[in-house]
Amino acid sequence: MPLVLNAADPVAIEQAAQRLAAGGLVGMPTETVYGLAADAGNASAVRGIFEAKGRPSDHPLIVHLPPAQDGDWRVAVAPLTREVPDFAVRLMAAFWPGPLTLILPRRPEVAAVAAGGQDTIGLRCPSHPVAQALLSAARLLGVHGVAAPSANRFGRVSPTTAAHVAEEFAALSGDALLILDGGACPVGIESTIVDCSRGQPVLLRPGMITPVQLAAACGLPVRERDDAAPRASGTLESHYAPSVPVRLMDAKPLQAALDVLGADARHIAVYARAPLKTARGVMLRRMPDDPALAAQELFAVLRELDTSGVRLIWVETPPGGEAWDGVRDRLQRAAA
Ligand code: TXA
Ligand code: MG
Repeated sequence: MPLVLNAADPVAIEQAAQRLAAGGLVGMPTETVYGLAADAGNASAVRGIFEAKGRPSDHPLIVHLPPAQDGDWRVAVAPLTREVPDFAVRLMAAFWPGPLTLILPRRPEVAAVAAGGQDTIGLRCPSHPVAQALLSAARLLGVHGVAAPSANRFGRVSPTTAAHVAEEFAALSGDALLILDGGACPVGIESTIVDCSRGQPVLLRPGMITPVQLAAACGLPVRERDDAAPRASGTLESHYAPSVPVRLMDAKPLQAALDVLGADARHIAVYARAPLKTARGVMLRRMPDDPALAAQELFAVLRELDTSGVRLIWVETPPGGEAWDGVRDRLQRAAA
């Protein structure tokens, strides 16, 4: 089993930073989801991430940075990036530290393995205090950026607690993986990703920071991604998938299907906002009406339903509107 340490203990942070500096793997809490972290500048450490996840090595990883000295983001990203457009700096000023990843032109000599062969690099400064403490402590030991994908095996549901990470990598020993337990992730779904390497902002992955907020902060319209956009695992059609099939339905057909099945629906778990009627013994979880709360619990609920012994998970399609974009996107991929 991986080693799980309470992140409230400063000794645990120091120990985790030393792991990173020595080329090891650390389960790192962030405000979005837990990351599987390694020194972005250490090619063999980064290969260890791809191997542990079972992720193709041409899928680029996000590199995490500690907060900028004096809030000067242009200086903070300069060691890793070539030209940084002004609109990207405005996005950093507005949303960093926070759940936003920016794709920027990469200096060819840095973090090539983490970038999965792209000539760009994904950067993010997390707002989670434990992530920031770890990134800052690691920097003092010579680690200048920490590559971290979500700490799940490839294609599976992202982890939002230390226990989820331990479950995903139960086969790894305490020497191979140290997990910092920083509690449940407050945002709950992965960062919004904006490609800033193509002259104007392009949304690659929706998240809790919405296109309207992005456009207001950077003064440019935000384009939707097209097929020219670089590969992103989180944008594969099927991703974030429980092992049990997930089906999305509107409330009315969902209720009708439950009515037809009656007590035979006991092999189905239901996650819905609408107050549905079900036969006794059918597992029913209520989805919050607030999209931020729905995002916060989404992956934990999917995991719980997945391991409850049911054979199907039926989910009510979330409402339209961009506040729900991130949750809707994750559910559509879980159902694909
Ligand atoms: O919230 C998050 O972003 C979490 C936490 C741990 O920071 N990380 C995360 O990483 O979700 P991951 O690897 O599961 O998803 C990162 C996405 C992938 O789809 C990857 O392909 C894309 O970011 N990405 C990273 N670098 C990129 C690049 N240079 N160009 C295009 N896409 C990139
Ligand atoms: Mg992921």
